[in-house]
Amino acid sequence: MSLAPADIRYIARTTCLLESRSAQYGDYLHRVLPKRFAGRVGRWSAEESAHGRRLRAWLAEHDPAFDFDACMTRMSTLPYHDDPASDRSPADELLSRCVVEAFAAGFYRALGDATDDPDLQRLCKALMADEARHFAGFMAMSEELPALSMPRRLAVIVRRVKELDDDQILFAAHCANHPEEPYDRRVSRRRYMQRVYGMYRPDHLRFVQAMLLRTLGQRPARWARTGMSHCLFAALQAKRVALAV
Ligand SMILES: [Fe+2]
Ligand SMILES: [Fe+2]
Repeated sequence: MSLAPADIRYIARTTCLLESRSAQYGDYLHRVLPKRFAGRVGRWSAEESAHGRRLRAWLAEHDPAFDFDACMTRMSTLPYHDDPASDRSPADELLSRCVVEAFAAGFYRALGDATDDPDLQRLCKALMADEARHFAGFMAMSEELPALSMPRRLAVIVRRVKELDDDQILFAAHCANHPEEPYDRRVSRRRYMQRVYGMYRPDHLRFVQAMLLRTLGQRPARWARTGMSHCLFAALQAKRVALAV
């Protein structure tokens, strides 16, 4: 175990809200992706919503103070992909989804390793497997479209990684854990990301990194992969320290 139970609940509450909003993301995907992907997108969306329900069931048992309905009502005040002008192209969107699913799989792996609750460990294992399967599913869809150039792929990945602590996540952390306070992005970022960064070990990052490298069609030598994951870990810890200042 690497996190205190209160920190685990803090993260689980936030994730529960985010997963419970997946149907709206599904609507967005239906809008931007080719119609022939609709069946696969529908199944993906249903599975993500099920993740929200399963986390909610765990929280109902282990964190009875969590008021899911009130938190979701507050959360729904934040607009969600409702501006068609900011839609991504289908190929960009599928690559972005691969990035998010890779991080989601790594996230559940790290969360499962950070808790000593056997129910949550089991749940995280199941969700990690789903997220890894989602990654493969979006990869398969992206391979049905004309390939993006390497610079474009790198740009999409970098942009999506930068968005990993976007307002959706920080506002969810706020609604789930501090509903009585006014929202302050900086405060929410410090509180939430410090906890999340604390879950990760180099092997979790190596797991995510392997999937990201697949999106680039790259498989560097083992020593290079190990070196990269340790650099990523050091960068994460540096960010964690910077957040504490
Ligand atoms: Fe999920
Ligand atoms: Fe997923």
